[in-house]
Amino acid sequence: MTVMTTPRPDIGVGDLLVEVTRMRMLCDGICEFTFAGADGGALPTFSPGAHIGVQWQPGRCNSYSLTGPAVDPAEYTICVRRDDSGGGGSVWLHGLGVGDQVVISLPRSAFVPISTARHHLLIAGGIGVTPILSHVRAAVHWNRSFEVIYTHRPGFGALAREMRDLCGDRLTVVEAALDFWDHLGPRLCDSPLGTHIYTCGPGPLIEGVAAAALANGWPPDRVHSEQFAADVAAGGEPFAARLGRTGVLVPVGSEVSLLAALLERGVAVPNMCRQGVCGECRVAVRGGPIDHRDSYLTDDERAKGDTMMPCVSRALGDHLELDL
Ligand code: FES
Repeated sequence: MTVMTTPRPDIGVGDLLVEVTRMRMLCDGICEFTFAGADGGALPTFSPGAHIGVQWQPGRCNSYSLTGPAVDPAEYTICVRRDDSGGGGSVWLHGLGVGDQVVISLPRSAFVPISTARHHLLIAGGIGVTPILSHVRAAVHWNRSFEVIYTHRPGFGALAREMRDLCGDRLTVVEAALDFWDHLGPRLCDSPLGTHIYTCGPGPLIEGVAAAALANGWPPDRVHSEQFAADVAAGGEPFAARLGRTGVLVPVGSEVSLLAALLERGVAVPNMCRQGVCGECRVAVRGGPIDHRDSYLTDDERAKGDTMMPCVSRALGDHLELDL
């Protein structure tokens, strides 16, 4: 008799093998997945606002924020909006079933709450509510002062119930875009000194909130964001990337990203979001002007010109030299 077994996914260093234990549709197109360790063991604690990479093809990961409790979690929970025009990862996830095994990365975070903040003003746009929910859990746990403005289209408040239960009257839900700015404006003026503002959602929301905060005199280091989905074109003029340590020249065509060209050439560059958001693919640059298109590096880091995110950023001229 031949026994058929499901092949066990390859697990790399720093990866975890988990099993889908629950799937729940939150609203049209958005599914919540719960994972437990495939070996039944404990999962690592994470920082509020952390994300994991979900490997949906060898070498291809999508990044999703963890929404459940962060300390000694028995399970991890993420929410995935199905995007039929995306790279394929969300569609793959929506096709999973309970009992399927998945390789994920260890949790990472570039969007942590500032523990010394006097007050936390949390702004969630659409599916960008996921890391904000994690911040809210931490704020409630540590009894921190906070409030949330959650804006979403009618019928698409994926985590509205959880937010209401945790926040009570500290939550303002806004379903009309214009109303959002009416609610935010006064909060930018009358929040206590020492407040930090955190925004997660589409790029225009993040940029609008940051611009309004800075225009109202907020110090830049109190304005934090995590872009949920960048709409960044990775193509452009062709150029060549020289690998400084070996002298190898990697041509980068107009339709491909520098990251894709490097991977194609066998250069192992860690990556996750491929949208210039997560910071995973950062590489050092030895020379050549850079066309920065990411939303991860700070203005100061860009100005130095010695680092870039090759998943979206390119050469401004016809060549770059990388420290690879
Ligand atoms: S892979 Fe996430 S910033 Fe490049």
